[in-house]
Amino acid sequence: MPAIGLGTFGSDHVSADQVAAAVEGALAFGYRHIDCASVYGNEARIGEALASAFRGALKREDVWIVSKLWNDKHAESDVIPQCRQSLADLRLDYLDMYLVHWPFPNFHPPGCAVDARSPDARPYIHDNFMRTWRQMEKLVEIGLTRHIGTSNMTVPKLELLLRDARIRPAVNEMELHPNFQQPELFEFVRANGIEPIGYSPLGSPGRPERDRTPDDTVDLEDPVMVGIARRLGVHPAWVAIRWAVQRGQTPIPFSVNPRNYRTNLEAAAGAPLSDADMAAIAGIDRNCRLIKGQVFLWKQEQDWEDLWDLNGVITQ
Ligand SMILES: NC(=O)c1ccc[n+]([C@@H]2O[C@H](COP(=O)([O-])OP(=O)(O)OC[C@H]3O[C@@H](n4cnc5c(N)ncnc54)[C@H](OP(=O)(O)O)[C@@H]3O)[C@@H](O)[C@H]2O)c1
Repeated sequence: MPAIGLGTFGSDHVSADQVAAAVEGALAFGYRHIDCASVYGNEARIGEALASAFRGALKREDVWIVSKLWNDKHAESDVIPQCRQSLADLRLDYLDMYLVHWPFPNFHPPGCAVDARSPDARPYIHDNFMRTWRQMEKLVEIGLTRHIGTSNMTVPKLELLLRDARIRPAVNEMELHPNFQQPELFEFVRANGIEPIGYSPLGSPGRPERDRTPDDTVDLEDPVMVGIARRLGVHPAWVAIRWAVQRGQTPIPFSVNPRNYRTNLEAAAGAPLSDADMAAIAGIDRNCRLIKGQVFLWKQEQDWEDLWDLNGVITQ
């Protein structure tokens, strides 16, 4: 799996056309890993960009392409058709990686308020997740994806999945940036041969207002990040990406700005940070989760922490 990918979640302010143009530009510049998802609502446009790139010198097997199963498609009968839909939209015969996007089944309309609760929302029920996972395993067996993985999992959920999976998750996509390093989960997945993919690696500076809370920190303005960046003559984003790759996670920064996505790729391939700089960044973990997942809660009176099994037990 290439050590850096391009994120494609334009949310409600970056159009599918802009994201598709970035995919094409990023592939031309050298990116070889694209992180897609059906819920981002832009796979059909990205498919056009991929088709155009593959008409040139680039070959399908040169690029690592990820897609994800959305929360309202966990039913056994939905998994294979959904994967086929993403393949059709992306104009591909196979995916390199297909992920279960979140471990919770639910439905909510795009852009709904963070305190909206879906009547379909359920906690993590392992037997149900395994029914979904068996279909994920089938996708590998019938050749629609080369690998399968998870996203937004916790240690107790992964322990159960690793116990029962026939095909183990190859990756876990999880929020990772200097102010949110998740050391316990990070060490757990690596110790179990699961690659950590780090989403929001720059601290998601462009996330919509509804996903912000007053306590959120700003990674790229952290004095340690700014200090290292100034000394090296680079943008703090460069430092965040370089740190991620060097720590051993695969960052998937989003950008539709050619200057920015170039910087990010150059950082991934750039000169190593010193041990002292790596240690300084290790010291600015502020346990600041930005993507809290509030809309996936299944009871009215719950707090977002319930999604993340903070005391090591799966919350029901
Ligand atoms: N599995 C999941 O549940 C999950 C959840 C969230 C995200 N993701 C994935 O992770 C990807 C990245 O996460 P994200 O979009 O939340 O956040 P992010 O990559 O941390 O931040 C993206 C923002 O940073 C800006 N940016 C990018 N490169 C920059 C640079 N070199 N200098 C300055 N600013 C820069 C971008 O603006 P410009 O476009 O103007 O450059 C954009 O506003 C998503 O697109 C998606 O593919 C997955």
